[in-house]
Amino acid sequence: MLVAPSILAADFTRLAEEIRAVEAAGADWIHCDIMDGHFVDNISFGPAIVGFVRKQTKLPLDVHLMIEHADHYVPRFLDAGANSITVHVEPEAKHDVGKTLQQIRDAKCRVGLTLNPETDFKLVEPFLDKIDMLLVMTVHPGFGGQSFRPEQMKKVKRLAEWNETRQHQPSRGYGLASKIDIEVDGGINPESARISIENGANVLVAGTSIFKTNDYAKAIRDLRGGP
Ligand code: DX5
Ligand code: ZN
Repeated sequence: MLVAPSILAADFTRLAEEIRAVEAAGADWIHCDIMDGHFVDNISFGPAIVGFVRKQTKLPLDVHLMIEHADHYVPRFLDAGANSITVHVEPEAKHDVGKTLQQIRDAKCRVGLTLNPETDFKLVEPFLDKIDMLLVMTVHPGFGGQSFRPEQMKKVKRLAEWNETRQHQPSRGYGLASKIDIEVDGGINPESARISIENGANVLVAGTSIFKTNDYAKAIRDLRGGP
């Protein structure tokens, strides 16, 4: 089980300290939420901040692009030090999804694809052979601190089943591992983490339930369901 704190909920006046604190507390990845004010109704931060985060930690940077024209910005996030880049499948994201996934793969970066709660799983199906990770949004993207949407677990389940059918295949081509990581993002707390894990998720993104507590190590342990 991997835990990826979303720095969207961190105290930006002490960002370096916050990153070091979650690393010391047992975080596996650092999740960076990029919002452009077009694809989602909020603006967060861009490649310069991701580059700054890169200098603070050796942990993999998991970059979630909630932006239009991701293909145009992917090179800048690669330069900033992203280890995985996740893009949206919705037509409103205004890019050629297959081409953008290949662009990320060609840069030897981990390839992620994601879908909003309202988006049918069918849209991601044609790309499952081409990705390392599927991010199932468990809130509508744009803001931290929203409530988990349990009905999204049907997508987690479908992907977990898909992974099972691939179990006996050593590789899906492109040098990919045979199983796709299943990441959940939005409203993840110890209870929704447990539900997500039960349904087959293996990467938990969490902002509020880590950064808005006083004990990051305990918060991360609680998400893993352990003592
Ligand atoms: C939502 C973002 C999430 C968000 C999660 O638009 O993609 O990563 O930061 O925040 P919490 O954990 O507070 O729901
Ligand atoms: Zn995110």
